[in-house]
Amino acid sequence: MNSPLNVNKNIENYLQFLQNTSQIIVVSEHFMNDEVATLRLGQLTKELKHHNYLYYVLAEPVLSDFEFDALLKELAYLEELYPHLAAPDSPTRMVGGATIDGFQTVKHQRPMLSLGNTYNAEELREFDERTKKSTGLEQIEYVCELKIDGLAISLFYTHGKLTQAVTRGDGIQGDVVTENVKTIRNLPHTLSGNFPDSIELRGEIFMHRKGFEKLNELRLANGEAPYANPRNVASGSLKIKDSSEVSKRPLDVFLYQLYEDQNTFSTHWDSLVSARSWGLPIAQTSEICVGIESVLNYLQTWDTKRHELTFDTDGVVIKVNNKALQEELGFTAKTPRWAISYKFQTETASTTLLGITYQVGRTGAITPVAELQPVQLLGTTVKRASLHNANEMLRLDVRVGDTVFVEKGGEIIPKIVGVDFSARQANSLPQDYIEHCPECHTTLIRKDGEAQHYCPNEALCPPQVVGKLEHFIGRKAMDIQSVGAEMCELLYQQKLVNSCADFFDLKLEQLLALDRVGEKSAQNVLAGIQESKKQPFERVLFAIGIRYVGETVAKKLAQAFVTIENLMSASIEELIAVDEIGQKIAETVYAHFQDENHVNEIHRLMSAGLQFTAQIKAKNSEKLAGYTFVISGVFANHGRDELKELIEANGGKVGSGVTSKTSFLLAGDGIGPSKLEKAVSLGIRILSEDEFLTLIA
Ligand code: IVH
Repeated sequence: MNSPLNVNKNIENYLQFLQNTSQIIVVSEHFMNDEVATLRLGQLTKELKHHNYLYYVLAEPVLSDFEFDALLKELAYLEELYPHLAAPDSPTRMVGGATIDGFQTVKHQRPMLSLGNTYNAEELREFDERTKKSTGLEQIEYVCELKIDGLAISLFYTHGKLTQAVTRGDGIQGDVVTENVKTIRNLPHTLSGNFPDSIELRGEIFMHRKGFEKLNELRLANGEAPYANPRNVASGSLKIKDSSEVSKRPLDVFLYQLYEDQNTFSTHWDSLVSARSWGLPIAQTSEICVGIESVLNYLQTWDTKRHELTFDTDGVVIKVNNKALQEELGFTAKTPRWAISYKFQTETASTTLLGITYQVGRTGAITPVAELQPVQLLGTTVKRASLHNANEMLRLDVRVGDTVFVEKGGEIIPKIVGVDFSARQANSLPQDYIEHCPECHTTLIRKDGEAQHYCPNEALCPPQVVGKLEHFIGRKAMDIQSVGAEMCELLYQQKLVNSCADFFDLKLEQLLALDRVGEKSAQNVLAGIQESKKQPFERVLFAIGIRYVGETVAKKLAQAFVTIENLMSASIEELIAVDEIGQKIAETVYAHFQDENHVNEIHRLMSAGLQFTAQIKAKNSEKLAGYTFVISGVFANHGRDELKELIEANGGKVGSGVTSKTSFLLAGDGIGPSKLEKAVSLGIRILSEDEFLTLIA
């Protein structure tokens, strides 16, 4: 039973908490009666369960961890005040989540618990005090590890072989995703050195930001909506049933916990050092910190340094190093008492949405932009944030005049994460999406299944024209550094350049007539333009800015068709036959060359002397001439691209799917079972990496 004194203290804590989290409260004389408390408990439970589902099952969380934990903490406070109203299946007693259909579900040998969270030094000092008190020690030795923003995995190695990988699921049971996990490049399938016979490791699967960006580039090139963040993609990837698909995702893993039955290790640190010696991926960023001040130093260092990392981290996990002490401290129902996590504050601020403007990109894609009352976030003033597309605006239900929450985490671009509905003005109206281009007033179009609206007036819509010119001169395109974005704008305004081909008709006198352009810089501009004529075909193809044709696609097309004439006369089927070219790209490329204006522009560029024929790479041999390979899985010594180059350099071809025309299936680790089955049923020879290398030796 709560003594009256305790109840007062609890109410005080609760009120303090509400105040800290800026929640509006109505304090009645008797605080809350049971009826009101039941209502609030019900609300919080429902909300938390919903957000648990979004986070764990759909991997599409809408709340930041901080917001989620604030709700959880409020529920915990209320349950402490009204213990008789606390539900047995309350989210405060559950880890969250559920398992995924279609995978075998197994019970974890040890529950996969979560960690208690802290957000400031004071809460950490309290944790240290509690630990010292429980153990009777004056100073505790901790291990500090970066908390990676990914998804938890449990791995079993038996006799040094990776035998099973299980997702966290609901913490009690998870899904067996061994084949998918085997595609992770930095995870060994076999251990080396002196390892115990049977071990379990826990870790976090994640995606480096670079890999994530590349994946999104590919998606955009295929006309698919980009993924929201690396964590969701990593999480979603493990749920894919075809592991050859998973192998296309650049996943990584860091392991942070080792379990073995012999109790070989007296400290957590020693277990990590040994695991590393067996070849397992253990983060190099972990450190032993003696005493809480040393822990706080580590936090401070990484709060800044984390932005230099190639992956996202959302905090630090602080663990008591000594295993005997860990055992002594034990567990609460949900979390270990010997570890705690410290979350870096994703900076969230609330501000007013002053208006929504719309940007027109070079391809005509429209992006809605939130114009904000300037607000400070992570040391910079934020005035604008992307609202991505009409669907996102609808999902957020943002309206001009709303108080919105802006967040800046690991990412550079701030985003609107929600609306403070309690502060919404009574007369506010839902936001209609624009129907006409804000620049040229052409009616916008939106293709079925696409999130983005487009302005179709590509030849005359000013930002599209200037955007195309800027793209054309860009480093990865024609690389005309002597022109630059400002000059593009000026040349367009002066009506000297309206399309890319116009660059090549520019005359010295025209440039000299421009404001602030002297003889030397005019000469420079012309020399840069002249020099660009040496750029290879693939660059030119990228530069002309066909929608969905990024650098990689341009390379593929140039290699496959060799000349612009071949490419321009290719049918949709012939385009699709090229590796990595899907229906959408094929249709778009085909349509591009059906447009007379585009064809004229290419003819003008050809007359100007640009390269429209690919330089064919010299072949090593013709050993593989007439053979088509399909490459699948992960290989010990070569990347898939390298293997592809080797095949092509020896006269062979590479296809994407196994068909009756496939001659060999080059199979690596984690190869998709469907590809393997099909190859077997068609009697196609399956080659290992070594066998392949012997073949071309
Ligand atoms: S220790 C009983 N260490 O954080 C030990 N967890 O709330 C519990 N996480 O999803 C986990 N990095 O997967 C631990 N270095 C680290 C971690 C870490 C990330 C994740 C973990 C779980 C969540 C715990």
